[in-house]
Amino acid sequence: MNYGLRGKTALVTGGAGGIGSATARLFAQQGVAVALFDRDGDGAERVAAALRAEGAKAIAGTMDVRELEAFAAAVERTERELGGLDFVVSVAGGGTRQTLSTLSTEDWHAVIDLNLTGPFNAIKAGAPALRRRGGGAIVTVGSLAGLRMSMNNGVSYTAAKAGVLGLTRHAAYELGRDNIRVNAVLPGPVLTPQMKAKISVETLERVPRELPLGRWVQPEEVAAPILFFCSPMSSACTGTHVIIDSGLHVGATGPRDEYDSTRDHAAATPSS
Ligand SMILES: NC(=O)c1ccc[n+]([C@@H]2O[C@H](COP(=O)([O-])OP(=O)(O)OC[C@H]3O[C@@H](n4cnc5c(N)ncnc54)[C@H](O)[C@@H]3O)[C@@H](O)[C@H]2O)c1
Repeated sequence: MNYGLRGKTALVTGGAGGIGSATARLFAQQGVAVALFDRDGDGAERVAAALRAEGAKAIAGTMDVRELEAFAAAVERTERELGGLDFVVSVAGGGTRQTLSTLSTEDWHAVIDLNLTGPFNAIKAGAPALRRRGGGAIVTVGSLAGLRMSMNNGVSYTAAKAGVLGLTRHAAYELGRDNIRVNAVLPGPVLTPQMKAKISVETLERVPRELPLGRWVQPEEVAAPILFFCSPMSSACTGTHVIIDSGLHVGATGPRDEYDSTRDHAAATPSS
């Protein structure tokens, strides 16, 4: 597929991780120069080096998305080394598995800082550079948890990801007249290499049975809608989101084989 992005430049946070590296790779395949920033600068550099080896233009650096000044410096370096900035993709995020009773105030702030202040900094530091280009696109990575609740992380993650949607909407309003579009992608269960390494075989096999599509989401399937929101294909979309969850949001509460078995043998009379 051709997204119409050749010659553009993108900054991706969380570039060392599963979704960030897949996004950087898809940008590179589309002829976009990429700047990967991550708290794990070595990991981001490994991804950038692999992309350069395939002929792409890619740089990488260490950056903590919670720090506005560090974000502004990353934007400035991207403009200097890659000749400008058209897209900012805020991918870095994550949570902890604590309950309300165990979550400390400090942990609450840590998760909010990473998942909500991080995207805020992406917009705040990125918008002036996009304005200098006459426009561009910002994509935030939220989560299905922002519409429902997280089963993998705690209340702080759910709250932060819900906040990402409000941030995205409001920023879209303020930046619309600058020709800067702001949209969100909301992944569901994505089988990144990092996810695969930390879950049990039982979880690996159970999750797909509860999903309409019957399989985990792949990181590349989150990258594709991110590029869609950067491309002219979404030129009238701003302040909105797309869910990428193998259908989890439809609300099934059990495995598909159970659902099928209770229907196949049921009488043709309505049940109460
Ligand atoms: N994997 C999923 O199932 C899933 C589901 C819903 C939402 N998401 C969201 O997608 C995004 C990416 O998830 P992933 O699965 O690729 O995770 P990942 O753990 O593979 O990657 C996250 C990256 O963010 C980096 N990072 C963490 N804190 C940082 C900080 N303060 N500053 C800069 N970088 C930092 C990490 O080093 C890592 O490389 C996150 O926002 C996550 O909440 C993921």
